[in-house]
Amino acid sequence: MLESSGDVEPPKDKKVFVKTYGCQMNVYDSQRMADALAADGYGITDDIEDADLVLLNTCHIREKAAEKVYSELGRIRQLKHERARRGRETVVGVAGCVAQAEGQEILRRASAVDLVIGPQTYHRLPAVVERARAGEKIVETEYALEDKFEHLPAPERNAVRSRGVTAFLTVQEGCDKFCTFCVVPYTRGAEVSRPVAQIVAEAERLAQSGVREVTLLGQNVNAWHGEGPDGREWGLGRLLFRLAEIPGIDRLRYTTSHPRDMNDELIAAHRDLPALMPYLHLPVQAGSDRILKAMNRRHTAADYLRLIERIRTARPDIAMSGDFIVGFPGESEADFEETMKIVRDVTYAQAFSFKYSPRPGTPGAEMGDQVEEAAKNERLQRLQALLTEQQRAFAQSLAGTEISLLLEKPGRLEGQLVGRSPWLQPVIVDENAGRIGDIVSVRITHAGSNSLFGEPMNPATGLKTAAEGARV
Ligand code: SAH
Ligand code: SF4
Ligand code: F3S
Repeated sequence: MLESSGDVEPPKDKKVFVKTYGCQMNVYDSQRMADALAADGYGITDDIEDADLVLLNTCHIREKAAEKVYSELGRIRQLKHERARRGRETVVGVAGCVAQAEGQEILRRASAVDLVIGPQTYHRLPAVVERARAGEKIVETEYALEDKFEHLPAPERNAVRSRGVTAFLTVQEGCDKFCTFCVVPYTRGAEVSRPVAQIVAEAERLAQSGVREVTLLGQNVNAWHGEGPDGREWGLGRLLFRLAEIPGIDRLRYTTSHPRDMNDELIAAHRDLPALMPYLHLPVQAGSDRILKAMNRRHTAADYLRLIERIRTARPDIAMSGDFIVGFPGESEADFEETMKIVRDVTYAQAFSFKYSPRPGTPGAEMGDQVEEAAKNERLQRLQALLTEQQRAFAQSLAGTEISLLLEKPGRLEGQLVGRSPWLQPVIVDENAGRIGDIVSVRITHAGSNSLFGEPMNPATGLKTAAEGARV
């Protein structure tokens, strides 16, 4: 094993290529796996042909997502042969939710695979890779008794710096809700919350590396309830207040939330905490009470609308985002109209919508009355047209207003920078707006199809926030 000393990069004799599918939690996990492997002497490569270790961090949420993995593994098999001909060994690993759901089956279906590792055992990854390099085929999908977060190395200072000014931080994992369409309770297991001290320490490290915006992650993030330093149980609202105290952390977000877990304390955080961005992803999935019941969402459409009203009273400029499923078993045309209605009632700034995909082992897959593909397609099209219209209208409504912008990275064109609005939209500005890591005021000039365009209120220097940025 190679030792790292201070800021000196350890010599990298082996290389790992990581491909990530699925949700933000997988993005976070991929980084932590890369950190664990870096501590073991692996450098990161973007070139799969150059990799001694290929890791696919997979998603099982819909059939398409899972099947993508197998077609990629077919290509990787070729690559492994070609490298072997050149005398180079390649270890191939499958991590993530397909690994957890299918385990041994992956080794059977894809001969190129050497190791299969589930999300609860990532801290064992370096050891598992070593065994695979020695020729063993390994499936590691037991839920570990030890806390994986305690055992994963802290993100390297420099590694974080190179990752930019925004970061994800997993605070909660797994789900106890068992919506009848969803595999997550099976792939990620029961809900586990990380304790406050662990989360604060990680956020402080991120802040020291120049991160200014942290997004707390959980499959059910607002169900988070962790042990506080006072020995009491804290909820997410209280945690957000604590994280906002960390010098350097100026923006907070959290995702994904369940309507059942939006409690008063969390709504109060939206009212009282300026660092908490006025943007909330709160999936409702469907608008018909009959379908919501069959989905086991355990709330009605009216409950959801009342909740949104309370949130908007607390934070009038909040923009909503959501997820929708069309064609859940038994969904009639009238049920679907209820989904269109709830979308019109709420008005979303952004949303994701999917055709229902029956997943093995979930109750939904066993239900009679599966909806025809043609009806699913047609409903999805109608829903997406409405959601796109709302998204555009929201973007256009910002034209002429002044917003705060966290500058994140260079734009695609020379002389441009890209940042994020409080509502998570990309905003393109001239590079004289400030430096990466600054939070600046810009006036939105117009909305493009995927991004907004802004001009600095205070170009070059002189902004308080730009001066703060010097710290970064
Ligand atoms: N925990 C979140 C959702 C996680 S999965 C919540 O409770 O809302 C992300 C999204 O994928 C879901 O919101 C849902 O819209 C979609 N999804 C999950 N299972 C699906 C399935 N079987 N078919 C189609 N879409 C699905
Ligand atoms: Fe899946 Fe429902 Fe849990 Fe969300 S709350 S992860 S949709 S089971
Ligand atoms: Fe997919 Fe697993 Fe995330 S199934 S959506 S990667 S929790």
